[in-house]
Amino acid sequence: TEETLVLVKPDGVARGLTGAILARIEAKGYALVDIRLVEPDRERLEQHYAEHEGKPFYEPLLEFMMSGPTVAIRVAGNRVIEGFRSLAGTTDPTTAAPGTIRGDFGRDWGLKVQQNLVHGSDSLESAARELDIWF
Ligand code: GTP
Ligand code: MG
Repeated sequence: TEETLVLVKPDGVARGLTGAILARIEAKGYALVDIRLVEPDRERLEQHYAEHEGKPFYEPLLEFMMSGPTVAIRVAGNRVIEGFRSLAGTTDPTTAAPGTIRGDFGRDWGLKVQQNLVHGSDSLESAARELDIWF
């Protein structure tokens, strides 16, 4: 079995979608191992999003992630890294498939593609690194 980091980003928490997102994770059969509400400081976010430093959306992304609390979840299951990204849908909420979290609930505010509700680690290496940052 493996573990992944899921974040319900500030837009998801503010819109009251944490429960709906947790329900999908549980319905899929994944296990919630740990969960916490975090108000991340800039340093934590710079670590988390290090790969995006210098990209045009980097600063707005950090600002957005500091706009309110995030729910961090340690989730376990067979192939959960790939499986949660499948539940989440593609990055852009407009084109994310219906039935996915981003496809069903995500909102496109023009350039702010980052309001896509959730984060999920994209590899074993990032999962280990990111779980250390948030837990
Ligand atoms: P995460 O699960 O959050 O990592 O999403 P992802 O893996 O689908 O996307 P990626 O790691 O490439 O980007 C991380 C986050 O940066 C995304 O979830 C978005 O919030 C934001 N982001 C990525 N690409 C863009 C972009 O082109 N424009 C804007 N405004 N935000 C972006
Ligand atoms: Mg990513």
